[in-house]
Amino acid sequence: MGTVYLNGEFMPAEAARISPMDRGFLFGDGAYEVIPVYSRRCFRLEQHLHRLQATLDGIGLPNPHAVAEWMTLIETVVARNGDEDQSVYLQITRGADVKRDHAFPRGVPPTVFITSSPLVTPGAQLREQGVAGVTAVDYRWLRCDLKTISLLANCMLRQQAVDAGAAETLLLRDGYLTEGAASSIFIVRDGTLLAPPKSHLVLPGITYDVVLELAARHGLPHEVRDIPEAQVRSADEIWMTSSTREVLPITRLDGQPVGSGCPGPVAARMHAWYQDFKTTVMRGGGAGQPAAVPV
Ligand code: PDD
Repeated sequence: MGTVYLNGEFMPAEAARISPMDRGFLFGDGAYEVIPVYSRRCFRLEQHLHRLQATLDGIGLPNPHAVAEWMTLIETVVARNGDEDQSVYLQITRGADVKRDHAFPRGVPPTVFITSSPLVTPGAQLREQGVAGVTAVDYRWLRCDLKTISLLANCMLRQQAVDAGAAETLLLRDGYLTEGAASSIFIVRDGTLLAPPKSHLVLPGITYDVVLELAARHGLPHEVRDIPEAQVRSADEIWMTSSTREVLPITRLDGQPVGSGCPGPVAARMHAWYQDFKTTVMRGGGAGQPAAVPV
C-alpha cells in the first residue's frame, strides 16, 4: 500500500485512522473527486478542483484549501506513490463531532483524505468486445450534479449490472437517459454523437467535456439534448465514459445487441482521439486541452 494524506500528514495507508464519529461514516456527509494521472501529470486538475468547489458550495462545506494548496497536496501524493499512471481519490467530510446530530456541527474541522491507486484503464480486449449494460429507473436524489460520497443509490444501481453479468447500469428518469451508475453515457445515431445535457440530474463529467471537445475539434457531428429511452434502445452505438473507463463501448443492452452488437466505428475514432490527446498533450507536457487539429 502506498502513501496517503490525512488531515495535514502524509503517512503509509495502513497508519491512517479516522474517528467512527466522522460524519462521512455516519451520514455520508462529504464530497469527493477521482482524478486520473498520466505519466505523473494530473488530468484536468483545475477542472476537477472546480467541480469539487461546486460540490462543497452545494453542500455548504467550506473548502479547507486554496487551489494551489490542493495542487501541492495531490502532487505530493502522486510523487510518493510508485506508478506513472494513477487514480487519485480525494475526500472531504464535515468532520467528527462528539455526538451524532443531523444538523451541521459548528467549529468542527473537516476530514481531508487523499489516496492514490494504480490507474487501470480498459484493455484492448475489453474495448474490442465492448461491455454489456442494463437499464434501471434512476431513483437517486435531485442533486446528482454534486459529487458527494453518499453513493448508496449508485452502488445499488451498479450492483444491478454486476448481478446481471454487465458492466454498467444506464439510468432512465421520466423516460429520458440521465447517465450511468458511475459514468456518463453517450449514444450515436446516424453518425451523430448525442449527449444528455448537464443539469442537476447528472454529474458534470470531466471526461464528458473532453469527449465533446474532441468531437468539436475533429468535426464529428454532435448534439447535446434530451435523449428518450426509445432512442437509447435503437442507438447505433452506446458508450460509457469516466476518468477510469475513458471511452468504453456498450455493445449489449438488457440482453439485446446495440447496433451491430460490436463496438462501432465512431467509438473507435473517439478512442483514438482520446489516446492521441493523452499521448501528445498529457504525456507531452501540455495543459490538458485538446491539441489543435491541423486543417
Ligand atoms: N465516477 N456520472 C457519475 C454518476 C459518476 O460517478 C462518474 C464518475 C461520471 C463520470 O465523471 P468523470 O468523467 O469526471 O470521471 C459520471 C467516478 C470515476 C467514481 O465515482 O469512481
